[in-house]
Amino acid sequence: MSTAPTPAEDLLFPPPPEFTAQANVGAREYERAAADPEAFWAEQARRLQWDEPFTTVFDGSTLPTAQWFTGGRLNVAVNCVDRHVAAGRGDKVALHWEGEPGDSRTITYAQLKDEVCRLANALEELGVGHGDRVVLYLPVLPETIVTTMACARIGAVVSLVFGGFSAEALRFRVEDTGAKLLVCTDGQFRRGTAVAVKAAADEAVAGLEHVEHVLVLRRTGERTPDVPWTAGRDVWWHELVERQSTEHVAPSFDAENPLFIIYTSGTTGKPKGLVHTSGGYLTHTSWSHWAVFDVKDDDVYWCQADLAWVTAHSYEMYGPLSNGVTQVIYEGSPLTPHPGRHFEVIEKYGVTIYYTAPTLVRTFMKHGPELPARFDLSSLRLLGSVGEAINPEAWTWLHREVGGGRCPIVDTWWQSETGAAVVAPLPGVTPLKPGSGTVPLPGLAATVVDEAGAECAPGQTGVLVITRPWPGMARTVWRDHARFVKSYWEPYAAQGWYLAGDAATKDADGYIWIGGRIDDVLNVSGHRLSSIELESALVSHPRVAEAAVVGAPDETTGQRIVAFVITRGGAPADDPGDSALADLLRAHVAQQIGPVARPRDVVVVPDLPKTRSGKIMRRLMADMTAGRGGGDVTSLQDETALAAVETAWAAYTASR
Ligand code: PRX
Repeated sequence: MSTAPTPAEDLLFPPPPEFTAQANVGAREYERAAADPEAFWAEQARRLQWDEPFTTVFDGSTLPTAQWFTGGRLNVAVNCVDRHVAAGRGDKVALHWEGEPGDSRTITYAQLKDEVCRLANALEELGVGHGDRVVLYLPVLPETIVTTMACARIGAVVSLVFGGFSAEALRFRVEDTGAKLLVCTDGQFRRGTAVAVKAAADEAVAGLEHVEHVLVLRRTGERTPDVPWTAGRDVWWHELVERQSTEHVAPSFDAENPLFIIYTSGTTGKPKGLVHTSGGYLTHTSWSHWAVFDVKDDDVYWCQADLAWVTAHSYEMYGPLSNGVTQVIYEGSPLTPHPGRHFEVIEKYGVTIYYTAPTLVRTFMKHGPELPARFDLSSLRLLGSVGEAINPEAWTWLHREVGGGRCPIVDTWWQSETGAAVVAPLPGVTPLKPGSGTVPLPGLAATVVDEAGAECAPGQTGVLVITRPWPGMARTVWRDHARFVKSYWEPYAAQGWYLAGDAATKDADGYIWIGGRIDDVLNVSGHRLSSIELESALVSHPRVAEAAVVGAPDETTGQRIVAFVITRGGAPADDPGDSALADLLRAHVAQQIGPVARPRDVVVVPDLPKTRSGKIMRRLMADMTAGRGGGDVTSLQDETALAAVETAWAAYTASR
């Protein structure tokens, strides 16, 4: 008898019958949607409240900028907030907010509506209106959601920037959007300490004339005193917002009115500002949230992502709010003040649906099953995963140790570009295979093809493409439409397919398994970072002449950042692991992009392997750091460069 473990492809978890019996969506949905995708999406769009009904479901005449639900007019914030109050559900809890230091607040839909209206009035008083951009540099607070909704209410385009990003990274986004307003806090809690942030916000807007105001919310108060202040520009939230009326008449906007801009790392250059619009995005997000997370009126739903990530846009703001769900949101680090913090929060609020990330599951695993066992997690009925492929071991651990063996796990594959889930199971229908996002959702068409566009045979690796336009798709890259077309649509222009940038295989059952990225994008703890962006940050340091960044496999974070650098002045690379230089460069990258971008390994090399046309061959270095050899070296300009990097890497790893 073989003792080899069962391959993940053969592990099958059919939905528990009791789950299927109560599920929002049944097996017929796949066929119904396939028979007439446009009719299917029109039906889902009608779950929303339209001020004027749409006349056309889908208009492909402007592809790749598709238009959905043209002629229709709606207000996204009304759909997410007012509509539930009008339906008599104003007393239902919208948000259970848990702060990092242990403070908490509970907000009903009626209260949320009042707060959104107040802020909408405040924004208008500051001169913000339809089409203006507002950048948010805020932690996970109810006010972050209030501001996002208030922007939607008045038709301003919001862009949320992760609070852990540096002033430089923030500045790029403020400048690129041409924002009129920046909203920030005095400080943020990070792993138990109060960190001042207003000075960073000031640095980000210095000299940018389009920024008329900085609205400052007090969060850390006396723990971060001496908030720098620019009179005339800076406004305290409590002075402006609290005196506003809770009455605000919401206008309606075109279905294709821009809703938000989200920045993401791509293959080349600076982050791209993807633009999402209103009717199609909300339709895709709202329906998929209802179908994939099976949300019910009495659920307590928790998506643990930071609000600035796309995961939270769709499944912590627009999706759950449009479905009138009760949510938990948590401000802090998952491990602060102790590694069981998430489980404590699940127990405290009786969370029924917990949407998490593989990197966090692997972190929990290190603490052993005793960690979740200390808490009562019996309220959970469904689990979710996003951000990277979940290893089968992590999947089964989550299933057994957190979900008590009874909770389906919805592994959702999607991207900032797709707006909402594309490949994901219907938990009452789709048998699960640990590590696979299963199959495309009803109404969505994705497959695995080779370079020429031919469908791959089962088991053959190719690239993931989306073969039919879908409502939640990004419409453009802010101020750079050519880049949008080039990055995603040019490679399969003949077929009109969207190239996702992920390698993938399909198994014999048609299940999709995601491999690594095909471009130079790294995935570190679910954060998307581009090699080129990291290299630019490194070479902006005076001691670095050239740099190459690759992702090496890492047990906890999925990938870790390895930077190969050539120092200026041709200093001999006799100490590839120069730790003083490594510290300098880590701090420099953190200051340029943010702590998430800090390279774990910095290796000093005398040369870098390049193609004859001068492109850095990152693939060969990635293979080396992963312990894979034998990559194709035929396009190398000079083999000695690769040999020198290999020697430096060997010396570096031996010295650790
Ligand atoms: O590589 C895939 C990976 O994350 C990329 C998208 O990153 P981002 O735009 O930041 O959005 C992340 C949250 C939706 C994808 O191209 N990815 C995301 N979810 C999964 C995944 N890879 C495998 N399985 C997933 N469930």
